[in-house]
Amino acid sequence: MSAPVQENWSSRAAFIFAAVGSAVGLGNIWRFPYITGENGGSAFILIYIAFVIFIGWPVLVAELAIGRRGKMSPIRSMEKVSVESGGSKNWKWVGALGSFGGGLGLLSFYSVIAGWVLAYIIKAATGMFTGVTGGAAEVIRDEHFADTGMMVFWHLAFISLTIYIVGRGINAGLEKAVTYLMPVLFLILLVLLGYGIAEGDMNAAVTFLFTPDFSKINMSVALTALGQAFFSLSLTVGTMLAYGSYLQKDMSIPKSAGIIAAADTGIALIAGLAIFPLVFQYGLTPAEGPSLIFTTLPIAFGQMTGGVIFGSLFFVLLAVAAITSSISLLEPAVAYFVEKQGFGRWKACFFAGGAAFLIGLLSVFSFNIWTDVMPLSFLGIEVINGNPATFYTIIDFTVSNIIMPVGGLMIAIFTGWFVTRAAMRDELDLPEGGLFSLWHILVRYVCPVALIIVIVWGLMP
Ligand code: PHE
Repeated sequence: MSAPVQENWSSRAAFIFAAVGSAVGLGNIWRFPYITGENGGSAFILIYIAFVIFIGWPVLVAELAIGRRGKMSPIRSMEKVSVESGGSKNWKWVGALGSFGGGLGLLSFYSVIAGWVLAYIIKAATGMFTGVTGGAAEVIRDEHFADTGMMVFWHLAFISLTIYIVGRGINAGLEKAVTYLMPVLFLILLVLLGYGIAEGDMNAAVTFLFTPDFSKINMSVALTALGQAFFSLSLTVGTMLAYGSYLQKDMSIPKSAGIIAAADTGIALIAGLAIFPLVFQYGLTPAEGPSLIFTTLPIAFGQMTGGVIFGSLFFVLLAVAAITSSISLLEPAVAYFVEKQGFGRWKACFFAGGAAFLIGLLSVFSFNIWTDVMPLSFLGIEVINGNPATFYTIIDFTVSNIIMPVGGLMIAIFTGWFVTRAAMRDELDLPEGGLFSLWHILVRYVCPVALIIVIVWGLMP
């Protein structure tokens, strides 16, 4: 079966929107603020930014370059670029681990969290948070968890929307969606930032986010920051390989990667500046964990002027950010099925999206009927990183702490040591020396060493 001709992004802006849309997601607005809160604020942010520059940017450049050089699905692009450099076809397994284990694994629970967001848009808009206090916000959350049917419904709704967009193809689906949604995202974010400035305690937020406190930097903060950098830049799960494969030859990859990384980091910081003023205004605690935006923020919205409108807008912002990311999680697997199995695009979407939906049910049940089910208890594993080892915790941990770092390590080793220098220089369209040498040193030495330290440390009991 000959592979269908790949579509290309129709413009430079379309690619940048799509890639920034993928990078900016729940990772920026849900995960970044609570992880920053848990890890002491500014110290974490400094080290996070260092990782984005020295590890995130080089790996992002590598993925976009391999994707564009291969011009096929992530799996086949890895294989093709390896063979071109006289290497083994087995590098395709790195693409497979990323696209299936990483992409679909992550999509499975990403969609459950995004479904939670959709449900909260309605709760916020119907005034359910008006006047709530700490205890009441938790009751609302627990009631949401307890309703298995509703959680399945919202998860299904979100996956269906993802399938619908991806099924329409690169130009009519992904590109069109991001072209409409990204401006909406920026606009809402700015409105919420303005709201934070007007109504919240901006001084406390700025102090918390930007006054460096080096005493808080330690190895575990560093590890969390590195994982967050991969997660937030959409690396190692096939996404940027796929998006690179639709990229025209005349676009500069190092520059595009710089724009994507800067926009992603900038938006995470702006999200922090929109959220923390509200948290501090009401004396709430920033170190709330994953519930920060679901239980802490509703208390703030519940007491502020215009809380119903701004609270609803906030959850709409999250939903928009989530959908422009989830489509990029489904795309790598879909591209593979279309190319290798000769599936039509819709069939491939139902197949891959259906698999993510079914796996996602394990995460849904982890919040209600299976809160006590610890699938790894036969190995004596009942707690992971302080959380009960439910299916949700295990899948999240496997993707974020195993597949992502190992995938990143593989990509760095592959591009730094196996792909010829000439091939990469050609793809990046850079002369020897200068920026090219800097990038090559980063992928060849800095990334592998840093990642090995993280993986060994992170998997140690
Ligand atoms: N970067 C997205 C976020 O921050 C998540 C994501 C990871 C999307 C990997 C695609 C691939 O929410």
